[in-house]
Amino acid sequence: MSVLSAALPDFPWDLLEPAKARAAAHPDGIVDLSVGTPVDPVPPVIRQALADASDAPGYPLTAGTPALRAAIAGWMARAGNATGELGVLPTIGSKEMVAWLPTLLGVGAGDKVVIPLVCYPTYEVGVRLAGATAVRSDSLTAVGPDSRVRMIWINSPSNPTGKVLPVEHLRKVVSWARERGVIVVSDECYLSLGWEKQPVSVLDDEVTGGDYTGVLAVHSLSKRSNLAGYRAGFVGGDPALVRELLAVRKHAGMIVPAPVQAAMIAALGDEDHVTAQRARYSARRDQLRAALTGAGFEISHSEAGLYLWSTRGEDSWKTVDWLADRGILAAPGAFYGPAAEQHVRIALTATDERVAAAVARLA
Ligand SMILES: Cc1ncc(COP(=O)(O)O)c(C=O)c1O
Repeated sequence: MSVLSAALPDFPWDLLEPAKARAAAHPDGIVDLSVGTPVDPVPPVIRQALADASDAPGYPLTAGTPALRAAIAGWMARAGNATGELGVLPTIGSKEMVAWLPTLLGVGAGDKVVIPLVCYPTYEVGVRLAGATAVRSDSLTAVGPDSRVRMIWINSPSNPTGKVLPVEHLRKVVSWARERGVIVVSDECYLSLGWEKQPVSVLDDEVTGGDYTGVLAVHSLSKRSNLAGYRAGFVGGDPALVRELLAVRKHAGMIVPAPVQAAMIAALGDEDHVTAQRARYSARRDQLRAALTGAGFEISHSEAGLYLWSTRGEDSWKTVDWLADRGILAAPGAFYGPAAEQHVRIALTATDERVAAAVARLA
């Protein structure tokens, strides 16, 4: 039997269990800043929409209801400045899309997919599931004229670094890929969380000029709207690529539940809850940032997104242990690629009470 899981890396979070046990032994309990899982309530306007749509005996549309498709396109025009004719498709959160996109688009053995040097581990998982080879690089010149490259992932704002790719960079990536017939996929889960820099979508008119050929953007409502538990994401971009995704996903049963589709419409139509959530993260970020720098950490990038990408200039596992001794759990840079071995990722997703506890312990 060929075991697909054998092609996959170790599940990274299992490796963090010893540090978690150590942090949990703190008399005042653990402050878990290792995962970016939202902890604040689901906004009432979204919960109401979910509840109102709960009588859903029939199969939902894989393509999404017309109202949801319009809500996604409307939001992409407002928040992403993508005003052309977009293809759009809801997804069951964005992680499944990241993990299956190479396979769904026919990438396979012998193909290469470029992923960021330091990145969310699921890009590599998706490439391995497709039987293709991942190439870690932030430099297109380093990739060279390799004709086996079929797809390139970019992620801005980045998990874990919080780095934002400027318009000029996005334009260069799109034009490099178009010259070679390579598909560009931009993971923009953190688009609504710019702090020192304003993130730009790859679909922005400034980048594409309204021509989305070969370009897709992957989005999620997990962080923007505290909907990680609902599994609500979507993809937008090249109508031909989106049609292809829909054709395969219809057969494969990759369908967003009807009540979640209704909840997504409510989430996309409301910015008040996004502003309120941003304010919570901003306050936590200011406090954690000051506490970490006070304790001798240096913060790199982190101009957007949900993380403080922090270093003490030592191996990331050593820093994880140092923090665990203070009852704080962080994710080691090693999870995100070999070039990140001296950083740890500190998430802003903890309650105000837990953030205050971390700040006191770092003092
Ligand atoms: C960069 C990035 N992409 C995708 C995801 C997946 O998010 P979800 O599946 O909740 O939409 C995450 C989750 O942390 C992420 O950090």
